[in-house]
Amino acid sequence: SSCSVGPSDYDKVKIFITNILAFLDVGPEATHVGLLQYGSVVQNEFSLNTYSSKVVVKAMDHLATGTMTGLAIQYTMETAFTEPEGARPADMHIPRIAMIITDGRPQDTVEEVAAQARQAGIQIFAIGVGRVDMNTLRVIGSEPHSEHVYLVANFSQIETLTSVFQSNMYYCDLGNHGCQHDCVSSPESYVCRCTRGYDLNRDGKTCSSKFITPLVSLLYFYITV
Ligand SMILES: *[C@@H]1O[C@H](CO)[C@@H](O)[C@H](O)[C@H]1NC(C)=O
Repeated sequence: SSCSVGPSDYDKVKIFITNILAFLDVGPEATHVGLLQYGSVVQNEFSLNTYSSKVVVKAMDHLATGTMTGLAIQYTMETAFTEPEGARPADMHIPRIAMIITDGRPQDTVEEVAAQARQAGIQIFAIGVGRVDMNTLRVIGSEPHSEHVYLVANFSQIETLTSVFQSNMYYCDLGNHGCQHDCVSSPESYVCRCTRGYDLNRDGKTCSSKFITPLVSLLYFYITV
């Protein structure tokens, strides 16, 4: 939301965000999503626990100020990804993903805070638009950079990244969707799979041992007889 972003560019970013959000399965047991914009200050638009179903990006005012990227990353790490704001406890190992869109040179230092955020377990995608220094994006984004760092020429080009994210952010990368064993992404959705020796139950999520269930029925049969 820096002042170098024009009004029509700002709208293009909003459309890009809306398109990415439309693809996500948002829910209490599925993906949680938050949005913040930053210029010289960080402004929270909605938190990870604001929406429990379809997200609506309401009227958002362009701050049109500076480019405090480091501050935004710090806020993401220290505030946005906390349990009061809707992050799940770390021991649930739900992936924490931050997508940062920037068009300019940060006015603060980003290297250290970005490294801290990645170390804290946040996977960072860095998207640069226009004259952003590729090195800045690299110090922000997670490894491998080929999957996490993107640079496009202008805001009209940002929409070309929608499909990149739709095919790269596989459903199961965003959480295991309540699968007891394995979550397997498909192009449109996901399916739960069970490890060897187990069958998927009718709920499509939990697994039962192939061995125990027949044994229980057999015992039951024996007792009844
Ligand atoms: C955006 O960048 C593309 C690719 O470099 C170029 O073809 C297009 O004319 C640019 N659009 C604007 C509005 O500058």
